[in-house]
Amino acid sequence: MSGNTRPHLVLIGMMGSGKSTVGRLLADALDWPFYDLDEQIEIQAHMTVGQIFQTYGEKTFRQWEIQTLALVLSYSPAIVLALGGGTLLDEQTHKMVNGHYIIWLDAPSKDLWLRVKDSARPLAQQGMEAFDRLHQERRATYEKLASVHITCVDEPDKVVEAIVQKIRSDGNA
Ligand code: S3P
Repeated sequence: MSGNTRPHLVLIGMMGSGKSTVGRLLADALDWPFYDLDEQIEIQAHMTVGQIFQTYGEKTFRQWEIQTLALVLSYSPAIVLALGGGTLLDEQTHKMVNGHYIIWLDAPSKDLWLRVKDSARPLAQQGMEAFDRLHQERRATYEKLASVHITCVDEPDKVVEAIVQKIRSDGNA
């Protein structure tokens, strides 16, 4: 982390956990700028995430994702940033987000699956079992990096209220 008076608020979690929805509401509540990493990758690449996976494959997507993460983390003053579900899987990203306030939005696989099963997400096309396996594989990383773990049983605005309370009591907003 460099140059910021406050850490960025970084939302992590599996596909369908509400990172973008909650992130936008959280940014509004705090009057901070909001960025969605997938959107930023799409702007840089002039392609959708789906097109990038299809044309160049996941490996290239991950390289572009890391480059875009570095760019967005360099923004100042502090922002609310929604990552993709797989952004922090490469260990080199862990140093990049170190010092920022990381909010893990968590929910059971079956609820997440209902939200993503009809979407075009490239890594949600192999059925519920594959999705659950991916989720279980990733949980240890989310857990390790999270400053705060929020279980999303409530509506997004309630989730935002809980986050605002928590980050204010931790002195981060
Ligand atoms: C991915 C999640 C997606 C997107 C890409 C890969 C993943 O973002 O970055 O399809 O590996 O979990 P969301 O988590 O916003 O769906």
